[in-house]
Amino acid sequence: MALVPMRVLLDHAAENDYGVGAFNVNNMEQIQAIMEAARETNSPVIVQASRGARAYSDDNYLRHLMLAAAELNPKIPIAMHQDHGNSPKTCFSAIEMGFTSVMMDGSLQEDGKTPSSYEYNVEVTQKVVEAAHAKGVTVEAELGCLGGIEDGHGAGLSGEEALAHLTDPAQAEEFVAQTGCDALAVAIGTSHGAYKFTKKPTGEVLKMEIIAEIHRRLPNTHMVMHGSSSVPKELVDIINQYGGEIRETYGVPVEEIQEGIRHGVRKINVDTDNRLAITGAIRKVFAEDGGKFDPRDYLKPARAAMKEVVKARMIAFGQAGNADKVPALTLDDMKRRYHDMGSKVS
Ligand code: G3H
Ligand code: 13P
Ligand code: ZN
Repeated sequence: MALVPMRVLLDHAAENDYGVGAFNVNNMEQIQAIMEAARETNSPVIVQASRGARAYSDDNYLRHLMLAAAELNPKIPIAMHQDHGNSPKTCFSAIEMGFTSVMMDGSLQEDGKTPSSYEYNVEVTQKVVEAAHAKGVTVEAELGCLGGIEDGHGAGLSGEEALAHLTDPAQAEEFVAQTGCDALAVAIGTSHGAYKFTKKPTGEVLKMEIIAEIHRRLPNTHMVMHGSSSVPKELVDIINQYGGEIRETYGVPVEEIQEGIRHGVRKINVDTDNRLAITGAIRKVFAEDGGKFDPRDYLKPARAAMKEVVKARMIAFGQAGNADKVPALTLDDMKRRYHDMGSKVS
């Protein structure tokens, strides 16, 4: 099966009340880990690459690795998504490269740090929706800014300032009507990276009620939760047991994500948990045998550790068991649907 538009996966998830994990990749082993997990659980797949990932791996390598994944797994629908596109230009080059979905993150200016104005966000998102839908490509947008200062994407907001940048449900309604985006990333108190919360999050810091309210206003819009790693203590402990120095930290509990899925969250972004799993596995090999120097000796356990995390998330989010049930719609099919609906499909 060829790569499919992400919208097809999200529509199926919405019709059947489940969520789809979107896992970040930078190299072959991460792509293999996701595909193995998907094969073992019969799960549809969203693989996503940040701008940093595209620069690290080079677009061409990434594209061919994704095509290999599709060729080797003809029964699994796979969407290839640009994570946090910082400008229409980035989204357009991803589409040229064969991505079947792009995120235009107009919540921040092109620097990926400074919160932008609502008007700027609408303008760049509309531009990307127009060009992407003309090719059947899915568009994710973002309204509101994630908190935290980790890992490059985000405004580094905390306290009152962060609260002021949570997604406003009334504005979300207006934004979706104005832009025609397929999916909307919402800010509810999460942040990227390992250091999200200093204790298990309560409703004070993780505002799940925003999701319920947006779902009430926009029952047909697919919501996206960024910064959704759970930062499991077991993974942090392995890193620290073998010489790492990760401070005590808490992520987004899987039960909260499941609550989000009950209220319209269809895409769940996870990167950090996989990074932790990979790092722990590699540290263990090095700590237990300082003589190892064949990369396969540590990349194999790293890949296996990531596969276990991805598998667990695929089961918890409910996408497991659905790969062979997703309708086989192509970019051309979506292109026609967008055209017939005047670009917006709801
Ligand atoms: O949104 C953040 C993702 O974890 C990607 O991070 O820009 O370091 O590749 P990155
Ligand atoms: P985490 O850092 O929580 O894994 O979030 C990843 C993400 O949101 C990618 O866009
Ligand atoms: Zn993100």
